Amino acid sequence: MKRRGGYLLSVGLERRRVLAAGLATLATGVGWSGPSRCDGAETEPLRKLAAEKGLIYGTTISAAQITGDHEFVDLVLRQAGLVVAENDMKWSIMNRGTRGDDDYGPADTVAAFALENNLALRGHNLLWHHRTPSWYFKLNARSELERAIVGHIQAMVGRYRGMVHSWDVVNEPIEPKDGRSDGLRNGVFLEKLGPDYLDLAFQTARETDPAARLVVNDYDLEFDTPEQETRRTTLLNLLERMQRSGTPVDVVGIETHLSCAGGPPFSASRLRRFLAELAGLGLTIQITELDVTDENAPADPVVRDSLVADAYSRFLDAALDEAAVKMVVTWGLSDRHSWIVRQETHEAKWRSDGVPSRPLPFDPDLKPKPACEAIAHAFANAPGRAPG
Ligand code: G3I
Repeated sequence: MKRRGGYLLSVGLERRRVLAAGLATLATGVGWSGPSRCDGAETEPLRKLAAEKGLIYGTTISAAQITGDHEFVDLVLRQAGLVVAENDMKWSIMNRGTRGDDDYGPADTVAAFALENNLALRGHNLLWHHRTPSWYFKLNARSELERAIVGHIQAMVGRYRGMVHSWDVVNEPIEPKDGRSDGLRNGVFLEKLGPDYLDLAFQTARETDPAARLVVNDYDLEFDTPEQETRRTTLLNLLERMQRSGTPVDVVGIETHLSCAGGPPFSASRLRRFLAELAGLGLTIQITELDVTDENAPADPVVRDSLVADAYSRFLDAALDEAAVKMVVTWGLSDRHSWIVRQETHEAKWRSDGVPSRPLPFDPDLKPKPACEAIAHAFANAPGRAPG
């Protein structure tokens, strides 16, 4: 009786799984035919599928993961062609409390890991209002405020000169909701120095490492809402102003933190148009922090994974049509290490049932998920482009 009950239960569960998968496929349009691109010894890694189209594929990493999670490191080395420190290169994370007392240890570990393994390295980030050491807020004299920025940028960019593919020089500089006519964020640098801080930061980075690509990185630029349309216009205007005044900017970073269900509407044509407008400015584009939250999706992991995969597909299928897109970085590789799973996101992105989120291409056991298939298929189907 017990066995029969167990059998019925497992048949029921399997039927539910198949039904759920079918429903999710119907609902989402994800359903690839042919062999899996992610599961199996013969499959090509994401970095290779990307490189075949002139793209770089990368992921975040941390010094703690490099020294403490060898299984994860093996996955990174197989799948990624680039790494970026998720937190270890942020100014306030490195700073031990007083001016000039910065701990380069974890940042060095990430840079050395990239160098030793022949991986490209993104530098993230030089100035971010959200991760600025507390002593900086107490400075008042303009000369001191500028000297501190210049010193920090020279120290970071100089230390890793020749090793960094792209630097996020200024992170998240726009916030139209702050009410300024130029749409710039009222963060610490703007409040203390005015918009000129942007030029100072980019000029200093360029002088310190002329080979590094210099990036303006920002978020909430992907969806078809009036708020995000305002953000897109604001960013385009900022980039045009920077170019007119000779500020050396090379790349726009589109963060791309997506939601798989119940989020804002997505329009492929609107995204394509925006990317074409950026390309029209002569800039290259990097997708810098791609991941997908599942706070509104059903708990069933099969359904959830399918919805998450669909969000990756819809975004990448549209974005990769634009030849100026040269890089795709997922904000993590496995659900084992994700800011979403660690609940470092805004509370609105947490699942109310307490079930861990599943935002990335590999699961916590490092097994590929449908999201990996979605990314692999997007790379395989993308038009080729000149690397950048
Ligand atoms: O390391 C401490 C740990 O010692 C402590 O026990 C724990 C308690 O909360 O906090 C840990 O620090 C956390 C840190 O991540 C490392 O995990 C911080 O609280 C947490 O706020 C921090 O969040 C990071 C966030 O940036 C703020 O720096 C996320 O990991 C990181 O993924 C996120 O990344 C940002 C990009 O840099 C810029 N774009 C948006 C993206 C998401 O916010």
